[in-house]
Amino acid sequence: MPAMTYPDLMSLKARLGRPLIMGHRGAMGHAPENTMASFQLAHRLGVDAIELDVHLSKDGVLVVHHDESLERTTNGRGELADLTFEQLQQLDAGSHFSAEFAGERIPTLEEVLAWARPLGLPVVIEFKRNLNAAAIVQAAIGLIERLGAGNDVAFISFDHFVPAGLKQARPTWCTGVLYAARPIDPVHLATSAGADGLLPNFFFVDKDMVAAAHAAQKWVGCWAPNSERELGYTLQQGVDMIGTNFPDRLHTMLQRG
Ligand code: G3P
Ligand code: CA
Repeated sequence: MPAMTYPDLMSLKARLGRPLIMGHRGAMGHAPENTMASFQLAHRLGVDAIELDVHLSKDGVLVVHHDESLERTTNGRGELADLTFEQLQQLDAGSHFSAEFAGERIPTLEEVLAWARPLGLPVVIEFKRNLNAAAIVQAAIGLIERLGAGNDVAFISFDHFVPAGLKQARPTWCTGVLYAARPIDPVHLATSAGADGLLPNFFFVDKDMVAAAHAAQKWVGCWAPNSERELGYTLQQGVDMIGTNFPDRLHTMLQRG
């Protein structure tokens, strides 16, 4: 499995002759986000990595879910952190998307890793804004350590203290800084956090910032281009990895050239 270090990611990109495709919350354009159905579909659609978001249940289990609250994506109510893992397992995380996915559960991070690692699919783990962030990071370090999965994941966050802390704790584990702005010196965001990569929203990518990142040996993995127009713009900037809800659309465009 390719590690998400700068040399490994760049050599995989060169071998593929295209940027890596990261399935955003799986293939959330086609399946309920952050569920096994979504990750499995992303794999069938040919992604090179999957992206997901993690939270902690009340009893300390790392689960894969985007929001702090349950309403948008499940039939549950309130804050995820107020429910035990067993209670979370009772929730339907698929019907909000379509009846076809009724009964999909909120997966654990361990479950996703157990599925992804034998397939050679790196897992990009996002730590969301959360009052419990320090405990979530500690739980993730413990889990990844126990599984010996440090080379198979990357840790990303909008809270740059998270990748910075992780890099100090585990210097060989890959990290990235997320942002949704046009900083004057984007490379500094990565260097100041000791991160391996930069993850801007696609809107803030341009060729100059990609060149500056590469000069500093940092990869650029942007997120959320979904329409053909957005994907086309992103491809033109020379990014190294693209996180999209529609991996199939991106594949089609790449084949078309
Ligand atoms: O990969 C980064 C991207 O997922 C960040 O935004 O809100 O979709 O988690 P969000
Ligand atoms: Ca995310």
